[in-house]
Amino acid sequence: MLANRKNDSILGTTKLRLPTVDSTNNYAANLLKEQLLGHGTVILADEQTNGRGQRGSVWQSEPGKNLQFSLVIFPDQFAIADQRYLNSFVSLSLVEFLKKLGLAAKIKWPNDILVNSKKIAGILIENQLKSDRIHSSIVGVGFNVNQLNFNNLNATSLAVEMHRDFLLNEVLDSLLHQMNSTYDLLKSNRFSDLDEAYFQNLWGYRELKKFQDQHGIFEGTIQGISPEGLLLIDVENEFQRSYDIKELTFLLEEE
Ligand code: BTN
Repeated sequence: MLANRKNDSILGTTKLRLPTVDSTNNYAANLLKEQLLGHGTVILADEQTNGRGQRGSVWQSEPGKNLQFSLVIFPDQFAIADQRYLNSFVSLSLVEFLKKLGLAAKIKWPNDILVNSKKIAGILIENQLKSDRIHSSIVGVGFNVNQLNFNNLNATSLAVEMHRDFLLNEVLDSLLHQMNSTYDLLKSNRFSDLDEAYFQNLWGYRELKKFQDQHGIFEGTIQGISPEGLLLIDVENEFQRSYDIKELTFLLEEE
């Protein structure tokens, strides 16, 4: 495969389909080490035997039912400090795609995608750094499409929400189309537009919601994200609180 690193090529022009793999993110990382992947390559699998989620969790998906893929990008103008905009680009692409289907999708900070307060997609971004720049980025997306049963997980799928099955290839192509148009914002450094769209679609932004931290359940209002990437929550009669992803639970079922 030609390793075209120029970051002006269209995302998803090259697709690599695997029947089964441990994790598409691992597979992409290995090919990247061998310098075998070009900008915009998508690696997708029907089944992952070791699908990985954020914070060391496992990503579960019924084989052949959902989209599980990794998109490789070389965002080489990107400073490490700006990496949250990669999150925004992927989250917003998914949300816009779902909205075009008529679903009221929201981003649960930092980058879970919710429909009806249930998780429909998860994102695992793994960056390879060179000094203070992001050299390459593996954007892993797990998107529930045709799975109907999630046992006791607070999850949903396109099929559950829309009461019909979808062709995975068609969903992927439309999503990639959306990703290409959102990526243009990133490429042209339109960070304030990305921020504005991100907050517009953020679950609980400037709304009173219930959360839980190590001290218990509380009500608060998300006000933004600090420069260090912490979630800022106003709680009545208190100074503003700031949370790392590991320190906070969103009480979605209370909706
Ligand atoms: C999360 O919600 O915790 C993130 C889930 C990310 C899952 C995707 S599926 C494709 C890619 N390969 C992986 O091993 N994980 C990501």
